[in-house]
Amino acid sequence: MTPEKPEQFVAAWIVYLTVALVLFFAIVFLATFIIASQQPQAETIANLTAETYMDTVTVLLENANPQRGETLVTRDYECYACHVQGADNIAPNYVGLAERAATARPPLTAAAYIYESIVHPSFHLVEGYPDAMPKNYETRLGERDLGDILAYLLTQ
Ligand code: HEC
Repeated sequence: MTPEKPEQFVAAWIVYLTVALVLFFAIVFLATFIIASQQPQAETIANLTAETYMDTVTVLLENANPQRGETLVTRDYECYACHVQGADNIAPNYVGLAERAATARPPLTAAAYIYESIVHPSFHLVEGYPDAMPKNYETRLGERDLGDILAYLLTQ
């Protein structure tokens, strides 16, 4: 359309600009929505399968050192304060853990289960125990320590 009068010309441009602005915000909104919906939500993390965990766990265990893991668990971190043998009322002790872990939360493998128990302790509680594990080990431990601890606990 070709506006004849200056008023019509201005009005046309206001319409064009409004349409452009609305389109711009619609696209920004859509993009935000799509990005947000791709972030894993707590619920979907809770439903992670053995395979999704195994990708992480396999990498962590690649060069892991179980001896170093033992030192970390018994000396450097406070795990034994709760997981001490003979004090089973605070936290389950590690005796037989690897065997229990293999069937604790199907379809998770032992390694995947132990990984989840440390990194997302609230997702699955060992029956009879409170949700008392510290929730910050994922950031506190870092990949190397986590891998070594996993390797050590898998020997239990
Ligand atoms: C404040 C006490 C506390 C500390 C510290 C603690 N835990 Fe725990 N942990 C618990 C409790 C309580 C449970 C049982 C409830 C649950 O499943 O979260 C548990 C469960 C676990 C389990 C699952 C055990 C099973 O038999 O299925 C693993 C593995 C574990 N902890 C590893 C660790 C590691 C590794 C550390 C140190 C880096 C640690 N915990 C530090 C209290 C603690």
